[in-house]
Amino acid sequence: MKTNKVYSGSCLEVLKTFPDESIDTCITSPPYWGLRDYGTEGQIWGGDPDCEHDFTSSTRKLHSGSWGEKDNALPHQKNATILNWEVEDKTCGKCGAWKGELGLEPTPEMFISNLCDIFDEIKRVLRPHGSCWVNLGDSYCRNPNSQDQTGKTGIKTMKYNYNFKHKKKFGSVYKAKSLVQIPSRFSIEMTNRGWILRNEIIWHKPSCLPASVQDRYTVNYEKMFFFTKNPKYYFKQQIEETKDLLQRNKRTVWSVNTASFKGAHFATYPPELLESPIDATCPRFVDKITKKPREIVIEKKSMERHELPKDSPNYRPARYDGKYSQGQRYAMYNEIGYDDGRGDDEFEPGVVLDPFFGSGTTAQVAMSQDKDWVGIELNPEYEKISEKRLKPKIIEKKTRDKANEFWDTK
Ligand SMILES: C[S@@+](CC[C@H](N)C(=O)[O-])C[C@H]1O[C@@H](n2cnc3c(N)ncnc32)[C@H](O)[C@@H]1O
Repeated sequence: MKTNKVYSGSCLEVLKTFPDESIDTCITSPPYWGLRDYGTEGQIWGGDPDCEHDFTSSTRKLHSGSWGEKDNALPHQKNATILNWEVEDKTCGKCGAWKGELGLEPTPEMFISNLCDIFDEIKRVLRPHGSCWVNLGDSYCRNPNSQDQTGKTGIKTMKYNYNFKHKKKFGSVYKAKSLVQIPSRFSIEMTNRGWILRNEIIWHKPSCLPASVQDRYTVNYEKMFFFTKNPKYYFKQQIEETKDLLQRNKRTVWSVNTASFKGAHFATYPPELLESPIDATCPRFVDKITKKPREIVIEKKSMERHELPKDSPNYRPARYDGKYSQGQRYAMYNEIGYDDGRGDDEFEPGVVLDPFFGSGTTAQVAMSQDKDWVGIELNPEYEKISEKRLKPKIIEKKTRDKANEFWDTK
């Protein structure tokens, strides 16, 4: 496996060619369920790999963005949503394999199962200290056979989780207009498959698009899951500054404005959303021989009020006339760096993987932190977009490395 390179193909297949324990952090945003067609030839999911498939085709109507055609839809809603389109399902009559694009599966259960098969491979390629971050949005359940919004029918589920008694009593459809709860179903299946779920991050979008819904609230957040492979993993503590200029361990609701990337025909995530996860879980230095991360030292100091920065509202001079409790202490953090006495040349940069690479936001942030990266992208058209975006950054990094080398040897 080469680093700082985009591999072309379906990530499940490409990942199988990567060696065990070669990645420090995976961070990604997979296709959301039932949202859009990425315009690629479908892949084969499930079934028997040795079967000589015999596919039969059927078509199904999908529509995301049910309000887009209404007269009161805002212009961006008309443009941003794909409305009604037909999806072709190809199912093998012999082994039950399904051929199609990830995200366009007929049921949420099949989508979660295909997606988690990819993350099984990711677990294999992660180093023992590795982490995995997944940004995944939800969908509302829509009536698949009409544009009617009355909510009579929903998406048919697969039967495997339900016994006959359950099906007889409750039926086997999710009701139209209900959230499908894709993120929750995904994180539960991931933990069923052995991942450790350390945090659910709420990505709050202060500048979210207005929606013309009137019978529920406008959703202005998405989830990002933080999984680890093992209970003990690499994590550089993340500190945030509070309004009163104090410091504390970073919290889990992050307000980050959305950022679109010109030229991308799909949702890109904003670089700012990735900065802390990559800083926290991808080591800048990994031992060239043992592949273990170099631990960075962060000192936590407990301070009294008179020791705080003078512009903090909590600062008080040392001889304040007794109005604050004497025992109150405040935490301040200081990044000391590396105290192992070793040279930087004994280490190599950690590697960040994005198996749904899109326009390459992940690589951009990895490079800004002097870390290596690997991308996988199915659509060759999107590769051109990322190449255009990343080339100037790669050149910039090479120039910086050369300059560093020059000053080191002087
Ligand atoms: C939500 S976009 C990711 C956007 C990316 N985070 C960014 O900021 O540009 C999902 C990407 O996954 C790609 N994709 C879909 N199915 C794939 C598969 N099976 N293997 C690899 N890439 C796939 C799509 O072509 C699309 O570029």
